[in-house]
Amino acid sequence: MAAAADSRGLTFRQDYFGDPAAWAALVALLQDTFGIDVGTQDRFGGPDPTSMPFAYFDENGVCAANFSAFSMPMMIDDRLVKAAGFQSGAVRPQWRGLGLYRDLMNRAFGWCDEQGFELGILLTDKPAMYEPYGFKMLPQQRFVGPPPPLETRLVLLRALSLDNAADIALIRQVLCERTPVSSVFAVTAQVEMFLLNSVFDTDVRLSYLEEHEAIVAWKSEGTTFQLLDVAGKSIPPLSAILGALDQRPDRVAACFPPDKLDWQGAPESFAPDISLMVRGGAADRLSGPVMLSPMAEF
Ligand SMILES: CC(C)(COP(=O)(O)OP(=O)(O)OC[C@H]1O[C@@H](n2cnc3c(N)ncnc32)[C@H](O)[C@@H]1OP(=O)(O)O)[C@@H](O)C(=O)NCCC(=O)NCCS
Repeated sequence: MAAAADSRGLTFRQDYFGDPAAWAALVALLQDTFGIDVGTQDRFGGPDPTSMPFAYFDENGVCAANFSAFSMPMMIDDRLVKAAGFQSGAVRPQWRGLGLYRDLMNRAFGWCDEQGFELGILLTDKPAMYEPYGFKMLPQQRFVGPPPPLETRLVLLRALSLDNAADIALIRQVLCERTPVSSVFAVTAQVEMFLLNSVFDTDVRLSYLEEHEAIVAWKSEGTTFQLLDVAGKSIPPLSAILGALDQRPDRVAACFPPDKLDWQGAPESFAPDISLMVRGGAADRLSGPVMLSPMAEF
């Protein structure tokens, strides 16, 4: 949807990812603003097809401002919640302070309300900006404890590479068919951010456990084993994961509620520079400590 240019020479456009030039202009805006290349997603089939971007473009096709919503269904306290994520919020410096972002936030939040999303979720270093729209901070806690006794059996294990087309296809398939990694707080299906986060964080290792048909996303932090995500039709217990990976850490930090791991870690607060914020009734029902898997960050 495109409107006529306004008195500032800006044109509002919504749902414009079908236009390659407009998508490239957003990639440039995010590169210039955050120093990240979301165009990497073109390698994996493009941006999330559920994305609904709201933006202003100048007369040269430069993206002056953008804010996007996308569908991010979640499992929260054992209930499937129709959630929307908000991302790619940026305004070029020369256009700041003029209310463009306020306009885009109103449009995006209004659109999500019309679509019947029960929960809005975003990550930000500027929480005050979203509070007037009903967003509240949700403190994140990871789950830390000693490892369980290892289940040592010979299992087939394969390291996956994002440079390998067959591995990418496998990752996509497993992510589409996955069960949520937690019944307390987890995405139910999210492909694009998992792939992008794997590219952005070069320390992340993706291991495929053939027997469980599950992908484990993990990394080592000194003697701590960081479990970032597990994608599969079922979630193997932590003892089987550590055994398959032949990891014998001093402690484990699960970066999501570990209710399916047959292991308990103690919630440990940490202070990431980015806050998780939520809006909507579904957020009020949250009863336990939570963390959004870093592989689902957006
Ligand atoms: C943050 C940013 C998007 C704001 O864009 P903008 O078009 O200048 O914002 P607006 O003029 O529409 O202001 C919208 C509201 O946000 C407030 N606001 C703007 N910048 C803010 C900041 N850094 N912290 C808190 N509130 C802020 C404004 O006061 C205004 O409030 P009001 O509606 O009560 O008057 C822009 O400065 C930017 O791109 N920054 C770098 C990238 C970034 O931080 N993006 C947000 C990621 S979550």
